[in-house]
Amino acid sequence: MEWAGKWIRPAQDMGEVCPVFVREFPAGKEIKRALLSVTAMGVYEARLNGERVGDFVLAPGWTVYKKRLQYQTYDVSKLLDRENRLEVTVGKGWYRSPMPGWCNEEGKAERAAEPAGLIAQLEIAYEDGSEEVIYTDESWKAGESRIRFSEIYDGETYDAGFEPGEFLPAVCFAYTGGTLIPQQGEKIREQEHVAASRVFTTPAGETVVDFGQEVTGYVCFTVDARAGERVEISHGEMLDKEGNFYNSNYRSAKAKINYTCREGRQTYKPFMTFFGFRYIRLDRFPGTPAAEQFTAVAVHSDMKRTGYLRSSDALLNRLFSNIVWGQKGNFLDVPTDCPQRDERLGWTGDAQAFVRTASYNYDVEKFFTKWLADMAADQLPDGSIPHVIPAMSVGNGSAAWDDASTICPWQIYLTYGNADILRQQFDCMKKYVGFITASTQDPFLWTGGTHFEDWLGLDAPVGSYKGSSRADFIASAFYAHSTDLVVRAGKVLGEDVSEYEKLYGKIVQAFRTAFPDYRTQTEHVLAVHFGLAQDAQKTADDLAEMVLSCGSRLETGFVGTPYLLHVLSSYGHTELAYTLLLRREYPSWLYPVTKGATTVWEHWDGVMENGDFWSDDMNSFNHYAYGSVADWVYEVAAGIKPVEAEPGFARIQIAPHPDARLGWLEASLETRHGLVRSRWEWVEENGEKKLRYEITTPSPARIVIEGKEREVEPGTYLFFGTGDVA
Ligand code: BGC
Repeated sequence: MEWAGKWIRPAQDMGEVCPVFVREFPAGKEIKRALLSVTAMGVYEARLNGERVGDFVLAPGWTVYKKRLQYQTYDVSKLLDRENRLEVTVGKGWYRSPMPGWCNEEGKAERAAEPAGLIAQLEIAYEDGSEEVIYTDESWKAGESRIRFSEIYDGETYDAGFEPGEFLPAVCFAYTGGTLIPQQGEKIREQEHVAASRVFTTPAGETVVDFGQEVTGYVCFTVDARAGERVEISHGEMLDKEGNFYNSNYRSAKAKINYTCREGRQTYKPFMTFFGFRYIRLDRFPGTPAAEQFTAVAVHSDMKRTGYLRSSDALLNRLFSNIVWGQKGNFLDVPTDCPQRDERLGWTGDAQAFVRTASYNYDVEKFFTKWLADMAADQLPDGSIPHVIPAMSVGNGSAAWDDASTICPWQIYLTYGNADILRQQFDCMKKYVGFITASTQDPFLWTGGTHFEDWLGLDAPVGSYKGSSRADFIASAFYAHSTDLVVRAGKVLGEDVSEYEKLYGKIVQAFRTAFPDYRTQTEHVLAVHFGLAQDAQKTADDLAEMVLSCGSRLETGFVGTPYLLHVLSSYGHTELAYTLLLRREYPSWLYPVTKGATTVWEHWDGVMENGDFWSDDMNSFNHYAYGSVADWVYEVAAGIKPVEAEPGFARIQIAPHPDARLGWLEASLETRHGLVRSRWEWVEENGEKKLRYEITTPSPARIVIEGKEREVEPGTYLFFGTGDVA
C-alpha cells in the first residue's frame, strides 16, 4: 500500500495521558467503499462517528517494531456519514511501556521517550467514480483523552468525567521505526465472557470478586455512582492459604484499574492493557457490589480451536481444560511465558516446549508464521536467537531456548503440512546451527556458553533454578537435534544439506564419546528422544528404573518434561507414563489440579503441600510449558500422530494406548484434511472386560491396535481388544 499519511504526534506534552487524534471531514456523495488503514507507536483504538472501528483489541499487535510494524485495514463504508469525526486514541502498549519490569534493559528508556505516533489513511471511493484520501498530517488535532494512564504491566487510569480541553494541531515527525507491513498474524479479539461466580469478604476484610477461572484480558464492570466517585481494582491469581487476596507474585507489575465515575449508571472495561487474573480486589467501589456487576473478558489471538481431549477422569479433564486456558491466556499475539507479572514476554524456550500441543489444540499456523518472522528479524548477526521475541536486551544464546528457531517451524510444518514455514525460516535455522558451530569450545559439541539448562528441574541444587543435568550435555543434545531438523527441513525444500548431514553424524559421534553415561532423568530423556543414545532401549529402561526407584516421581524441568512420557511409552513403559500422568501427589500434572488450579503452573509446587506459596519471586500460575503433556495424550494415549513423509495429516498413524485406570479416553483433531477422532473405552460383555476402539480418519491411515497393523482408507472403524498393548 502507498502511504500518503504522515506520522503525527501531539504538539503538547501530555505526560502519562493517552492522546486522542481527531480529524473532521465531510463526505458529501454516495459512498462505494471506504477503507481505513491505521497503525501507531503503541496500541490504538479508532472510532468513526462514535462507533468503534473493527474489533481488534490492542492493535496493531506486537512485532519487532523497529523492523516490522503491522498496520490494519478496516472497511468503514457503513460508518461514514455526511459529516464525519474520526478519532484515534493511542496508548503506550508494548511499544512504549517500560518492559521488562524486572530489569533495567538498555532500550527501555529510549522506547519510553518515543512519541505517541500515529499514521492513518482513509481511502474513500464514491459511486460517481471519484476518490478521496483523508490522511494524517498537520490538519489533524490532538488533545487529552479520558485515558489518563495506560501501560502493559501497571494497568489503566480512566476519568469518565473528564471533559476534553484544548486540541492543538498535530505535529508531523520523522519516523525512525520499521517497515510498515499489512497485518500478518491473527488479530487479537475479545473471545469469551466469564461471569463472576461470587463476591466475598476475605478474613482480612477485603472485598474480592472470584471469576472461578484464571483468564487473560480485563474486567468489565457496571456501576451506579455519583460523579467523582472512584473505582479501584487490583488483580490476582490466587488466594493465600488463609483465603486472603494475594498478588505479590506479580512482582513490580501494579496491574491496577483506577476509574473515576461520571454521574449515573456506567460500564467500563480497559482499552489499552490486559491482566492475568482469576480474582479482583475492590479497593474502592461505590455501593454494595454484586457478582452481576462484573464479567471477565478473555482476550487472545483469534485462533480456531481444533483439538479436544476428554476422558472418564474428572481431574484429568480439568488438566486438559487448564492446558487450553493456558494457551488462551498466553497466545496474545506472541507466545508468552505468563500473562500477569512483569514479564509477559515471548520466551523462546517455553514456546518450543509447548508448540506441538499448541498446534493440536488450536490452528496456530498463522500465529507462529508471524512470530517466527519476528524471530528471524531479531536473530543476531552471529546467528544466535534472543531469549525473548520480540527481543529485549535480556540475553541470547541459550540451548533449548534458541532451538525454538528450528523446533517451532518444523512442528508447524508437521502439523499443517505446508512447507512455506520452512522456506520462510530456513536461513534462520541454518544460521542458528552455524552460531553453535562457531561458538562452542569443543568441536561437534556445544560446550561453554550460558544456558538456562533444565530450568526449574526438581533435581536442582538448593537455591538454584537449574536442574542437575549437565549444561554441556543439554546444549550438545540440542545442537544435534537442531542440525537434524535443518537436514530434514532442507530435504523437504530440495536443498543440498550434505554438509549438515556430515555435521550431524559427527555431532552424534562426539556426543557418544563425550557423554557415555546419563545421570539425570532429563539426560536420559534427551539421549533417547534425540536419537543419541547408543542403546535407546537400555537407556529408556534405565530411565524407567530411575523414575520408579524414586517413587514414580518426575524430576524434569522445562527441557526434559515435554519428552518424558514419549520416551517411556516408545520403549515399552506406557504403564509408567500413565502412572506419571495420573499421579495426584506432588510432583505431578494433577497435583496443581487437586489444589484448585484453573491454568497450568510454572512450578510443580507453586502452592506447596502445606498451602504456602513456593515463593513470590518466580511463581506464575499461568505458565503453559508443562502443558506440553497434552501432545502425549493426543499422540500416544489416543494415538493420533502425523506421518513425517506426508505431513499435515495427509497420512495418519493411529495407535491408541489404553490404560486400565481410565474408563475411556477420546481425542479429536480438526486437521487440514478433516476430522480425525480416536476413542477407546472399556466395555463389559458376558462378564468380561473388553476394549472398544472407535476411530475416524479423514485420510489414509495406518491403524495399530494392540500390536496389529492395518492400512485403511478414510472412514470410521470399530475394533475390539483386550487392552494388551505392550
Ligand atoms: C520465564 C520463563 C523463561 C525463563 C528463562 C523466566 O523468568 O518466566 O518461563 O523461560 O525465565 O529461564
